[in-house]
Amino acid sequence: MNIALAASPAFSAADRSIGHSAPITPAELKSAMRNLSGGVSVVTAGIGDDRTGATVTSATALSVDPPTMIVNINRTSSSWPVIERYRHFCINILSSEQQQVAERFAGFGGLKGVARYGGAEWRPLVSGASALAGALAAIDCEVEEIIERHSHAIILGRVLAITSGSGEPVLYHGGRYGSFQP
Ligand SMILES: Cc1cc2nc3c(=O)[nH]c(=O)nc-3n(C[C@H](O)[C@H](O)[C@H](O)COP(=O)(O)O)c2cc1C
Repeated sequence: MNIALAASPAFSAADRSIGHSAPITPAELKSAMRNLSGGVSVVTAGIGDDRTGATVTSATALSVDPPTMIVNINRTSSSWPVIERYRHFCINILSSEQQQVAERFAGFGGLKGVARYGGAEWRPLVSGASALAGALAAIDCEVEEIIERHSHAIILGRVLAITSGSGEPVLYHGGRYGSFQP
């Protein structure tokens, strides 16, 4: 089986699937993952001036029954202590019109905290977190469980409310934002 894979024209001599004992480096995994296109969301947390958030590609549904979201947050990020403290978050799935919101919440230009909410319209949700007007969906959650593993916190959220919008998504691929072309 391994020999057949090694002989396959789809695999090059540089592949490290077989016969390598050296550990995979972070750079190698990062490079491989640049091939995966991701939907872009902004996770919001906190209330009033004590709000922040982050642009993420790691948000998805863990299960629909019960309605449960999952998102992976770096524990060095400014959003992590806020989510941990408020035990809530909202996943705002961005439209192709909202790339600037993605840039603000990725900390572009050094923006921090509530300053990231500037230039867009928000409304408070049941949990206390903020929903972005015009997002494809805003999924309001209370934290159900947190698993701290390696650099990240894996956060599960019980879905409290959903606001649906419409439009095209913004995608992230190879370090760039783009639009979906079927
Ligand atoms: C497209 C994109 C996707 C990202 N996905 C994640 C993610 O899933 N989890 C995460 O912790 N940070 C992610 N980040 C990084 C955060 O947006 C943010 O830059 C980082 O948390 C630093 O934030 P801070 O200034 O609040 O500390 C992503 C950034 C970009 C541009």
